[in-house]
Amino acid sequence: MTQTILLTGGAGYIGSHTYVALIKSGYNVVIYDNFSNARADVPARLELITGAPVTVWRGDLLDGHSLNAVFAAHKIDAVIHFAAKKAVGESVRLPIDYFQTNITGLLALLEAMNTAGVHNLVYSSSATVYAETETLPIDEDAPLGFASPYAFTKLAGEQIMAQVAASNPAWAFGILRYFNPAGAHESGLIGEDPNGIPNNLLPYIAKVATGDLPALNIFGNDYPTPDGTGMRDYIHVEDLAQGHVLSLAALLAGKGGHLLNLGTGIGFSVMDMLQTYSRACGRDLPYVIAPRRDGDLAAYWADPARAQAVLGFTATRGLEDICTSSWNWVKRRGNMGTS
Ligand code: UD1
Repeated sequence: MTQTILLTGGAGYIGSHTYVALIKSGYNVVIYDNFSNARADVPARLELITGAPVTVWRGDLLDGHSLNAVFAAHKIDAVIHFAAKKAVGESVRLPIDYFQTNITGLLALLEAMNTAGVHNLVYSSSATVYAETETLPIDEDAPLGFASPYAFTKLAGEQIMAQVAASNPAWAFGILRYFNPAGAHESGLIGEDPNGIPNNLLPYIAKVATGDLPALNIFGNDYPTPDGTGMRDYIHVEDLAQGHVLSLAALLAGKGGHLLNLGTGIGFSVMDMLQTYSRACGRDLPYVIAPRRDGDLAAYWADPARAQAVLGFTATRGLEDICTSSWNWVKRRGNMGTS
């Protein structure tokens, strides 16, 4: 029988790509989203990609009635939980908002799941839960820490789930620590769509490519890296989506919980990214060297071995795919007049 997956935050950046990957793998999916950080036309775009109607439940995690209603209306087999706030800088200004959405929201979801007898959950965590380190690559046993309220909420979420799992063997959690998600769907119909001036590197470069922003500010070129700019592990969002499908399948197969990095294992610099994007869009994108950004590390990337061993997960797309798919998305979105 076809299994039904509840996708909180399913209209957002990673959620929408995971939606497509789940449909392609034969699951029924119900999106639960309050559209606070997703465009209203995402469901229509998902219908274009998948060729099938999308089930969307417009609701907030903090609305217990709405949450219980979605579990009552659909026979849910498992949940993938994306709905959360994720801007590090904003979390420093508005920590209570972050605790509410990311921690109270998680608790509300766990409670509704428990009431409905649903005990499989894939959780969106982040490499931000690792303490600052110069030991690379970062594996899952690396020391943990948090440098922002946002990071705290992700770590707290992991620890809450560890204790809930210990309370009842029915629970199984797939905790996925993402490195730097980037890129867009190959169709060009969905991608990252931040409001205002982007904080993250790729969406910022994309806005330079479209001419919406004049130049990339490179935050420091005096790091101890080969070209002096910061290095990160950029994972294509379609690879990341596939990681969720594999995590979910492992939970539904009764293999128990897991806690895994999702990354490529390779670090690329800001300059690598800018040059690759310049090739993708066909012109040299302008940049200026700016001071280092507070809180940035020189370089880090994942040890992806455990995800390979446990789930058979390997990222198959590289930097060029990331830049080409992003350019395809921002170009098309402009043409559709929906930005
Ligand atoms: C950030 C978050 C992390 C989150 C991730 C999502 C922080 C401290 N960390 O990671 O929690 O999971 O985004 O992808 O905010 N850069 C520039 N110019 C720019 C923007 C970025 O040079 O305009 C550089 C940064 O200095 C860094 C690299 O690009 O070296 C990547 O930055 P970014 O995309 O913001 O991601 P992280 O800071 O790694």
